[in-house]
Amino acid sequence: MADTYYKGKVVLITGGAQGIGLGMAQAFAKAGAYVLIADADKEARQEAVARLSKENLTIDFIACDVSSEQQVIDLLQYVREKHGQLDVLINNAGIADPFMGNLDELQMKDFDRVLAVNLRGPLLCSKYSLPLLRKSLHPAILNITSTRAFMSEPDTFAYSASKGGLEALTHSLAVSLAKDKIRVNAIAPGWIETGEWQKKSQKYTPSHTREDKEQHPVGRVGKPEDIAEAALFLCSEKAGFITGQSLTIDGGMTVKMIYH
Ligand SMILES: NC(=O)c1ccc[n+]([C@@H]2O[C@H](COP(=O)([O-])OP(=O)(O)OC[C@H]3O[C@@H](n4cnc5c(N)ncnc54)[C@H](O)[C@@H]3O)[C@@H](O)[C@H]2O)c1
Repeated sequence: MADTYYKGKVVLITGGAQGIGLGMAQAFAKAGAYVLIADADKEARQEAVARLSKENLTIDFIACDVSSEQQVIDLLQYVREKHGQLDVLINNAGIADPFMGNLDELQMKDFDRVLAVNLRGPLLCSKYSLPLLRKSLHPAILNITSTRAFMSEPDTFAYSASKGGLEALTHSLAVSLAKDKIRVNAIAPGWIETGEWQKKSQKYTPSHTREDKEQHPVGRVGKPEDIAEAALFLCSEKAGFITGQSLTIDGGMTVKMIYH
């Protein structure tokens, strides 16, 4: 398959105004796709437009909170009216807050919010993308989960549960949407450094200790480009025989046995 695969394809990436999502947006746009970013953060959206236009990449940005059914309906209506086409949906938007907190103090509203963004959001976006995806020749959905779906640090209940749910939703969607020829896969990232990909007010220059690097068998922390490369593959017909799978991209961290 030639590298022109994404020319003429429309790719919707949620949470693409910063971090891994922005890295994927840039990669898909460079590969020739028409990229739409749906993100809830106005400041990040405006800065991302400026960043990508410096590279002559034109990307469409839409305000959307993926946990809101009405906003997702409006988003897909916009995609239908403006583009009339959708080939790839990447459910990337996610929140980690409250990152830590013990179970005694966990507020159910915080738990519910993480589940609403990280799990309900991908379900809503998948549901309302269906009419357009069904019209695509080779439609694909990609869910960005986390290695925290499979293992935990203490006190990360909401995030771990949401990502575990998204892993399960991936195989459930894959089996259910196979009749529509829609492939559904997941990427489970490990530690991905996004400091350079944040909006100005949150941007920082990454610095990693030797220990940070050495806990990864490949000897470094991950970067958004690592996820973007795999996303380009999984959402293309090169991966046409792959559905319902989750690809862990973590520099080998989760397969490393630790004895002290
Ligand atoms: N960075 C990592 O180390 C890492 C590791 C594993 C998994 N992940 C997952 O990868 C995805 C991206 O992570 P990141 O580190 O790039 O995060 P990030 O915070 O840098 O970017 C997330 C983007 O999602 C947007 N967003 C948040 N809530 C939203 C909502 N309700 N509706 C629409 N947009 C919303 C934010 O505005 C932001 O632009 C997330 O799902 C995250 O859980 C990240």
